[in-house]
Amino acid sequence: MAEARTIGSLPVPNVQVLAETCNGGGEHVPERYLRTEASSDEVIASGDSNLAIPIIDLGKLLDPQSSEEECVKLGSACQNWGFFQLINNHGVADEMTGNLMSDIVEFFKQPLEAKKECSQQPDSLEGYGQAFVVSEDQKLDWADMLYLQVQPSESRDLRFWPTRPASFRHSLDVYASETAKLACRLLEFMAKGVGAEPSMLRGMFEGQGQLQGMRANYYPPCQQAADRVLGLSPHTDACGLTLLRQLNGDVQGLQVKKDGKWFAVDAMDGSFIVNVGDALEILSNGRFKSVEHRAVINPNKERISVAMFHYPCQDLILGPLPEFVKGDKVRYRSTSYKDFMMQYFAAKLDGRGHLERLKLE
Ligand code: OGA
Ligand code: NI
Repeated sequence: MAEARTIGSLPVPNVQVLAETCNGGGEHVPERYLRTEASSDEVIASGDSNLAIPIIDLGKLLDPQSSEEECVKLGSACQNWGFFQLINNHGVADEMTGNLMSDIVEFFKQPLEAKKECSQQPDSLEGYGQAFVVSEDQKLDWADMLYLQVQPSESRDLRFWPTRPASFRHSLDVYASETAKLACRLLEFMAKGVGAEPSMLRGMFEGQGQLQGMRANYYPPCQQAADRVLGLSPHTDACGLTLLRQLNGDVQGLQVKKDGKWFAVDAMDGSFIVNVGDALEILSNGRFKSVEHRAVINPNKERISVAMFHYPCQDLILGPLPEFVKGDKVRYRSTSYKDFMMQYFAAKLDGRGHLERLKLE
């Protein structure tokens, strides 16, 4: 009998099967991983820049000469795609990024037993395992992950923080504070880009109650059935803004939904893939879009990605900000952010379903 986990008062049965444990050479892929939609959906290949997520240059955002124009481009990326690639001197030194990435590779390279020292526990969402597994008959994602709450620093639960490699904790600490700063800067430019007061959004994310989480995703190859498994089910992110780095640049995996079609993302070397999450769609009264995305699997190559999630401050009642409602109607119900998060984590991933339930139209 699976052990029940609880999130708040919601029971979450522990019915995971780690992808890594059933990925031996020619072995049969368990039924729980196979799905029909993975191969039947239309996918637009990357290549034509008009059919790809927009590229935003932080250098241009910071240069007074080009800032205004780049801000508008950023604003429109967040309204039309909900996603963009951020390039050029984004202030998170390559060395810091490299340190964390290599520590994450080291972590995942360890034997399963060693990783299990960081396994999820019945009382928490953090740790090594799979996420959003709530029933025995739901399909599973072909990926294992490590989720950690990183900020505020007093909320860190070190039971789940790897001790091997020895540099892991320090690398994450440094990387997290740099990406949090970058996220706040971007929020300011995004507000500017749609003609709102620049400090408006940033203020909801910055300061003492600042919340940040990290999810490292490990997608093993799947020789037997890469086109019939999914690395990560279609979902939106619950946070405000996600900054994602992918490690193996030449292995595609992330796909973004636009106008009913999936667009493959070609991650450029050294770029961040940035996306709007549910909380930001709500705060902006729907101006910025929290867009569905998923990850597919390569038959021969593994892929590793690291997502930093930036959540609005803890005690917030989450609802549209007056600045974004001006001249429009209120499009989302307000809810306590804690309840919102609890519901998100207690369900399986469900495209935009979670967000749609808060819509007022
Ligand atoms: C996520 C996510 C995509 C990827 O972790 O929420 O969407 O490419 N990851 O790993
Ligand atoms: Ni995501």
